[in-house]
Amino acid sequence: MMVAASTKGAPRVVRLSQFTTLGVGGEAELWVCHDLPELLEATTAPYRVLGGGSNLIVSDAGVSERVIRLGGEYSKADLTPEFETDTHVFTGWVGAAKPIPGFVRDLQRRGLSGLEGLWGVPAQIGGAVRMNAGTRFGEMADCLVALEIVVDGQAKVFTPQELGFVYRNSNLPQGKNGVGIVTKVKLKLEKSTPETVQERMNFADEARKGQPHWRTFGCAWKNPVGQSAGRMVDQAGLKGTKIGNAMISLEHGNFIVNLGGATASDVISLLEKIEATLALPLEREVEIWGEI
Ligand code: FAD
Ligand code: EPU
Repeated sequence: MMVAASTKGAPRVVRLSQFTTLGVGGEAELWVCHDLPELLEATTAPYRVLGGGSNLIVSDAGVSERVIRLGGEYSKADLTPEFETDTHVFTGWVGAAKPIPGFVRDLQRRGLSGLEGLWGVPAQIGGAVRMNAGTRFGEMADCLVALEIVVDGQAKVFTPQELGFVYRNSNLPQGKNGVGIVTKVKLKLEKSTPETVQERMNFADEARKGQPHWRTFGCAWKNPVGQSAGRMVDQAGLKGTKIGNAMISLEHGNFIVNLGGATASDVISLLEKIEATLALPLEREVEIWGEI
């Protein structure tokens, strides 16, 4: 693959393993877009959007489409209230490239409550919107008031009601060259205190204690209604199942960990092996990019 000059806005070829929390993924052309004109140029050919790379298994062969990552104006947050009530603050635009961890900490310092259920999710706002990321303490869609989405050469504003948010999924508009790109969101946050928000973050930390600290993409499967996929894998005695250097975590049955040097095919073979062994079907939460 040709390497393009790496001036601002120009594409460059990268290994996506550097951009995924699993640490797996081959080459792709990365377009970092700082503003709307750059984004409009990047979306003139087939593309994929990369956020924090925390829900992805990327093929060892990489992907042929452009990979778009947001930066610049999409990393800024305007938390000045657009208006407020006695109990709530309605924010200005928050860029979709903002990493969730730092943003939740910032809200905690300001005593603004609403997103602390996502404490510990290593996503960007845009990826958290796309997946409707969350925990039992709350999910991304709970706080959304408006979203700017770039699709088919235009930035359009949507309400959350138009985007079909459900447990770990959404229905973003599909454009000619790729899915609509969430660029900014407006949030409704509850007025609270730093201490109260911190307490809620502590609950989220507590709930995460059984999760592994190896390289991973979070839960592999969605929980079937009323059940826990992790418990199902555990009860079937499948923790520790290994293919190559990918393993079902010994700590939690819904996590696949990269023991070091795992390949995308190791990880996918492991997903398939577990799915074939369990009596009940599981729906994947993790997304696969490229040909395996
Ligand atoms: P990516 O992984 O980069 O992409 C995921 C999807 O979102 C892709 O389809 C991508 O194209 C799309 N996307 C990304 N940015 C945009 C955008 N701006 N516009 C449109 N589409 C976009 N998830 C939970 O829900 N709860 C948890 O508690 C949780 N814990 C985790 C813990 C760990 C240690 C890890 C590694 C993952 C965890 N996850 C959890 C999974 C993951 O963080 C979420 O799925 C998250 O929403 C992915 O966001 P991301 O920015 O990393 O997106
Ligand atoms: N359990 C086992 N064995 C295991 C794993 C879990 O018996 O190997 C049991 C636990 O003891 C508990 C139950 O199963 O009684 C549920 O487990 P846990 O509390 O760990 O929650 P989970 O349902 O596995 C969910 C989310 C996580 C989120 C946590 C904390 C899904 C698929 N997973 O996990 O989200 O962080 O709750 O709120 O909804 C993600 O989506 O990627 C993710 C990590």
